[in-house]
Amino acid sequence: MFYPEEIVQEVRSRADIVDVIGQYVNLKKKGANYFGLCPFHGEKTASFSVNPRMQIFHCFGCGKGGDVIKFTMEYENLTFPEAVRKIAEETGYKLPEMAQTAEQKKESDIRTRLLEINRTAAVYFFNALRAPQGQTGMNYFKKRELMDETLRIWGLGYADQTRDGLYQYLKSSGFDDDILHESGLITFSEKGVYDKFFNRVMFPIMDANNRVIGFGGRVLGDGEPKYLNSPETKLFDKSRNLFGLCYAKKSRKKSFILCEGYMDVIQLHQAGFTNAVASLGTALTEQQCRLIKRYVNEVLLTYDSDGAGINAAKRAMPMLKAVGINTKVINMKPYKDPDEFIKAMGLEAFQEHIDNARNSFLWLIDVMKMDYDLSDPAGMTQYTNDVAEKLSEITEPIERENYIKAVAREQMIDYDSLRKLVNHMGDLRERKQSPLNEKIYKHTDFISKADKKTKKETALQKSEKQLVTWLQEKPELIPSVRNYILPEDLSDETMQKVISMVYQQTPANEILDTFRDSDDEYEKVAAMFNGNLLSDDSDEYEFKRGLEDIIRNIKMTSLNTKIENETDPHRLTDLFKQQSDLMNLKL
Ligand code: CTP
Ligand code: MN
Repeated sequence: MFYPEEIVQEVRSRADIVDVIGQYVNLKKKGANYFGLCPFHGEKTASFSVNPRMQIFHCFGCGKGGDVIKFTMEYENLTFPEAVRKIAEETGYKLPEMAQTAEQKKESDIRTRLLEINRTAAVYFFNALRAPQGQTGMNYFKKRELMDETLRIWGLGYADQTRDGLYQYLKSSGFDDDILHESGLITFSEKGVYDKFFNRVMFPIMDANNRVIGFGGRVLGDGEPKYLNSPETKLFDKSRNLFGLCYAKKSRKKSFILCEGYMDVIQLHQAGFTNAVASLGTALTEQQCRLIKRYVNEVLLTYDSDGAGINAAKRAMPMLKAVGINTKVINMKPYKDPDEFIKAMGLEAFQEHIDNARNSFLWLIDVMKMDYDLSDPAGMTQYTNDVAEKLSEITEPIERENYIKAVAREQMIDYDSLRKLVNHMGDLRERKQSPLNEKIYKHTDFISKADKKTKKETALQKSEKQLVTWLQEKPELIPSVRNYILPEDLSDETMQKVISMVYQQTPANEILDTFRDSDDEYEKVAAMFNGNLLSDDSDEYEFKRGLEDIIRNIKMTSLNTKIENETDPHRLTDLFKQQSDLMNLKL
């Protein structure tokens, strides 16, 4: 659902950002702003600020920032339209029904029908499990040690041994062949119409909002395929869903436990680990990583402890890292998966393994060992070299040092020699590092380069930020500043776009709206409205001198760039004159 800008602005204007954030964060007024402890990262001193005049927030610590909608999205893990709806509801604003095109209407009708079919089928399977013909299914679940309550929570069911029991049931519930065909639950062939699932225990797959979008069905004993899943439909896109997410998202834990199978998730939840999810029998996808990131910043991997599981974990780590998720690995040995582990060892033992989950880097170093013959000195040397190579990719010195220590200790490699080796490789790497090389390393790097948010601001960026902030606070100065600073004088495209809008006196949150499609830009711009803010008693004279400095700094840098690229002597003279005029600038 897409709301037009006027509606978004109307909803936003009804909620005061200080009131909304004040419900979650203890805010104290300091000067014109409010400050509190940032809810998005752990901190002891308040670096989270809320600006009531501009109606935006910004954290100087972690860089998050934006308007009241953005705050609601981040804090409540909502999408943009969901956040708009929540704020509308809370402020008693009735959102208009959005008009849809005929095409959109048809699509959404189909999706609604498919949801109804899936729900009806789930009820059919659920009841069948509890009927006499479902006894074999029930016995199977009991054998796997699931409690009645668990069967109920997960809506587990049974597909019976009639050829078309579900088909007849759905027909009599009023669904016609066309839509049943699209549901993927019924097979239409020359031989006739029959149910896709036959004599299997059934696992409904729910999306994040508890709606059944598909099924997985398991054979009762041995047999192929072990699991049969709904095909992809207009409703069911495996790559965008996680099994168990609808419950895990409510667990309010700081991490998710990521496993491979349906039974693993169910068994973990039954044991109280309600933050377990599974990637639905596919290799983890980028969309799933982003989905996880909406809820947590840390994932504990519990992939099967066989070769395939290790490879799956190796593959998942950089993907999770890429969206900003920290990964640890839970040791499942000697069991195959969490289901078997919990049943054999109990939940305390599993909790212990969670507490001892290994940092993904050290885990990787450990499993690398399997590729070498360490009883052979040559193999050992090769292993040490490759370990050093990996360590040298860590650019942050303290982090690198800590890892060298840990690896030396764990792998019984002499600490001093390892450190020398690593630093030597690091030096070589730095010398090689041209911009082109950097690109290549980016993709291969296991530990990514230092977070860009923590990069130092340049003096120029600071001035630009200050300018934007001050002009928002004192729009009466825009005409005189404009005489000196053109949008093109700012250092990059984002800043140029922002200053143009500031010149037109666009409110801060409307400027932010135009950057909504890019998280990075959005936060960068939110930060721009948080240069040093004026305190209420700031002296007019001092303030103007400060602003002059800023103008001079920005314009001088811009003129220098132009001078470097100018070859025409007349224009050069003009540029030099502009520079000397700057010295006498007076607002
Ligand atoms: N899977 C699948 N299709 C298959 C095999 C597996 O979709 N033919 C998916 C299922 O989601 C399954 C997961 O991959 O849960 C892991 O498969 P596997 O390790 O083989 O099974 P387990 O989860 O251990 O299944 P169980 O404990 O029921 O034997
Ligand atoms: Mn299993």
